[in-house]
Amino acid sequence: MVKVNEHYARVGNNYLFSEVARRVREYKATRVGGRNVISLGIGDVTREIAPAVIAAIQEATLEMASPETMRGYPPEAGYDFLVNAILEHDFRARGVTLDADEIFISDGAKSDTGNIGDILGTDNLVAITDPAYPVYVDTNLMAGRQIELLPCLPENDFCPPFPARPADVIYLCCPNNPTGTTLSREQLKSWVDYAIEHRSLILFDAAYEAFVSGTDVPRSIYELEGAKRVAIEFRSFSKTAGFTGLRCAYTIVPRELVVAASTGETVSLNAMWRRHQSTKFNGTAYIIQRGAAAVYTPEGQRQTREIISYYMQNARIIKEGLERAGMTVHGGIHAPYLWVKTPAVLSSWEFFDLLLNEVQVVGTPGSGFGKAGEGFFRFTAFGKRAEVVEAVERVGSLF
Ligand code: MLT
Repeated sequence: MVKVNEHYARVGNNYLFSEVARRVREYKATRVGGRNVISLGIGDVTREIAPAVIAAIQEATLEMASPETMRGYPPEAGYDFLVNAILEHDFRARGVTLDADEIFISDGAKSDTGNIGDILGTDNLVAITDPAYPVYVDTNLMAGRQIELLPCLPENDFCPPFPARPADVIYLCCPNNPTGTTLSREQLKSWVDYAIEHRSLILFDAAYEAFVSGTDVPRSIYELEGAKRVAIEFRSFSKTAGFTGLRCAYTIVPRELVVAASTGETVSLNAMWRRHQSTKFNGTAYIIQRGAAAVYTPEGQRQTREIISYYMQNARIIKEGLERAGMTVHGGIHAPYLWVKTPAVLSSWEFFDLLLNEVQVVGTPGSGFGKAGEGFFRFTAFGKRAEVVEAVERVGSLF
């Protein structure tokens, strides 16, 4: 008789963003006419893909039309042309040296942050910031792991406190989704030191690093001394270059990352992840990897920077507009997310309902990201400019 993974009973029926989409669909279905619904909910990009990326994808597609240049299965860890561009632009240019076999190209940071648990024991104690991108908690619940939540609140400047019990695995996300806040170099260094001392593994989600400006906030955990011995880093082209619909990301698993197995032998997480990917993943499409490589060309860099600054201008508009309306707004300086205190005593979902029903604006309830997110609400800056301006006016009209 078939047995199911009973740990799935520990997660709700719907993934957060599916639940938000369901409620919006239901709302739209029950009304006739009325003004448009503006979504500043899921962080999905709205600007067209950079022309340099499109041109590279078109060219690569044409290569597929000829027997001389067509490609079959891609190498499961990625093509050299993309890996080398990443090493040069994302790391070497910023003083971080990594080797090609430490980079694993994939189809998304969501899948990688979710699947990484496959190579980790289910008896690890996992520390996760609260609130957090729901994938971290949901996938660890599904695997049956014990979780300790690290509340990140205005009171601690959204810097996670160290866990009460030594954690084996720690999830950190900087710039943070959902709070839009960042960790300073010193704060992140203290986590690297913690992990070295407790022989823990940090899973560092840097999907939003492209939104960091200036040099105070680290863009990679490997900028910090000792991090290669304790951290895996996740990066994504989704928000950096509008790849939410194209799917391309990469994960760095340094070779220095070795852990002691229960047998006493040392095990390389890099070798384990390679074994995982070669077994469960068949590589990211050639044409998509060509598109991603085009992000690193001079035009690609210029065009994607322009798109990022458009979103960050949106973030400023939302922040200033909501503050003018009297709301307390966190984040949105080095990240495309604004973390807003819900007004009066409204819960996150009550505020969601109020915005949807009264002003037809969609955001994401903070409690969907964890208990410490209750009483907060997330707006994304990935909107179209006119809609962002209008949404801010509509929300402001409620106060
Ligand atoms: C978000 O809105 O948090 C993200 O867009 C979701 C994701 O990256 O999967």
